[in-house]
Amino acid sequence: MCGIVGYIGKRQAAPILMAGLHRLEYRGYDSAGIAVGNKGTLKVAKCKGRVRELDELKPQRFKGMMGIAHTRWATNGEPSDRNAHPHCDSAGRFAVVHNGIIENAAALKEQLTARGVTFSSDTDTEVFAHLIAMMDDGSPLENVVSAALRLVVGTYGLAVIDAARPDVLVVARNGSPIVLGIGDKEMLFGSDSAAFVRHATSMVHLDDGEIAVVRADGYETRKLDGTSTVKTPSALVWKDEAYEKGAFDHYMRKEIGDQPEAVRRTLGGRLDARFQTTHLGGIELAARDLLDVRRIKLLGCGAAYIAGATASHLIEQLARLPTQAEPASEFRYRNPVIEMDTLYIAVSQSGETFDTLAAVQEIKRRGGRIIGIVNVVGSTIARECGHGIYLHAGPEIAVVSTKTFTCSVVALALLAIHLGRLRDLSNANGARLIKGLEALPDHIAAILKREDEIAQLAECFQKAEHAFYIGRAAGYAIAMEGALKLKEVSYLHAEAYPASELKHGPLALVTSETPTVIVLPRDDLYRKNVSTIEEIKARGGPVIAITHPGEAHVAFDRSFEVPMLEPELDPLLLNIPLQLLAYHVALQRGCDIDQPRNLAKSVTVE
Ligand code: AGP
Repeated sequence: MCGIVGYIGKRQAAPILMAGLHRLEYRGYDSAGIAVGNKGTLKVAKCKGRVRELDELKPQRFKGMMGIAHTRWATNGEPSDRNAHPHCDSAGRFAVVHNGIIENAAALKEQLTARGVTFSSDTDTEVFAHLIAMMDDGSPLENVVSAALRLVVGTYGLAVIDAARPDVLVVARNGSPIVLGIGDKEMLFGSDSAAFVRHATSMVHLDDGEIAVVRADGYETRKLDGTSTVKTPSALVWKDEAYEKGAFDHYMRKEIGDQPEAVRRTLGGRLDARFQTTHLGGIELAARDLLDVRRIKLLGCGAAYIAGATASHLIEQLARLPTQAEPASEFRYRNPVIEMDTLYIAVSQSGETFDTLAAVQEIKRRGGRIIGIVNVVGSTIARECGHGIYLHAGPEIAVVSTKTFTCSVVALALLAIHLGRLRDLSNANGARLIKGLEALPDHIAAILKREDEIAQLAECFQKAEHAFYIGRAAGYAIAMEGALKLKEVSYLHAEAYPASELKHGPLALVTSETPTVIVLPRDDLYRKNVSTIEEIKARGGPVIAITHPGEAHVAFDRSFEVPMLEPELDPLLLNIPLQLLAYHVALQRGCDIDQPRNLAKSVTVE
């Protein structure tokens, strides 16, 4: 998804916009651009590459007190100077930045070309700029933009400025997030409040189908048909410094280190030692409702899906309810049966992932009951679900999710205990698990202190081109997460596989150059995992075990031991070394850790 930021007010716009772009760069970074309006003209600078390349065009010098800016994650039109946003009409009067996909762009482009319009890019967004210019009949900009939007089919989070109307910006949302930031006699907006948190005191989320008319002294919102809508501003949850990297070289390493504190925030006020259960006010489901639940279905994408897969074991163990996780991206396409006694749970750190949102909307459309496990307060999925559990993990900037993965599983553990204690989970087991959750932050911190050992482990991957990550039950889910991290951040092909399945085919790929990482808890499947290790060793494959202290019943090539906590919570601790392993392999390979190639932090397009 792309980064959008806009400003109108009493100060020069360019420095504020450029700072906002740097803050949004994790959302998209194959090109960037800025447009500032001043005395009836637009100054535009844009280029392929990172925001630092745009800085070199000296846009900070642009004069003007209103403007828009954009970092792009290409969806159509290859990354290039000409395809960078903003896009302007032929007269250079209107500028548009856009996140999303205009599905009928080709048809509109044909019509515009037939009317003599010449296009200068391969993007769908440029179509919109020419459409606005063609529709401009001198009426208020919001009417012109609404008229143009009524011709468009697709998703957008977009912003429009007009050199001839310097006192107004228009933004619109349909499927891609747009948030307004309210400042002191100035207004800002962005695809993420991170862009303007430094300058605003409160924010307003636009809903799909809404447009906002933004002026220095305020805003008004309406639907495309002109009917006004009322929005209630909400406080900005995270302060500016929460978005800084601090002393760390990378956001990813900072956020791995944030985990003890982030877990404490997720647990904050939710543990009830008196009744050995958990308080989850946000799910707004009374005990009576929860006792009617007969099945749990977890939905998410990427690491959020894997967090659901990890927690599904824990929920089924503790609540004794059939529990399954499924990639949200497939869910709506298989015409799913929506069951009235199923509790659906959407997992999404950003709360903006299109596929997860679409699954939530499908479930709601068909009468299903859904809650959200979300990090970003007020995000679309959080609002669409209506209730759920906020992670309070703090902003996660790195593209690869680490602390929000851990906090999502912790939040689901809280739910599992809550559901279990309504059913057969005993007082003693409730107390045991609560104690385990309280000890989790310190155990994570202790593992982080042994980072050097993991950096040495990373050297096993220097010559590797492929790796296996394996485990059984929840250990397999952690193997999936470890493999995803390694792929995302170091570009090394890593395949997660159920340890029990290796002998049914993939073992053919094991060579002395293909390391296998095994998630090896000392649980009731330990012996079976040892047998799998022996099969791999017999074929000369190197094995790295992430395991618990104790007598080794088989020769690993390398191992890293984490303390045993509680069987249901151990997968969380076994995952921490895998986060650091991925980080150090990427470091040793010289990869761009916070902005891996081809990826964006949350994918708000299909
Ligand atoms: C995780 O490391 C990836 N960046 C990606 O798989 C991510 O988990 C996925 O896109 C879902 O994002 P969300 O949690 O914001 O919905």
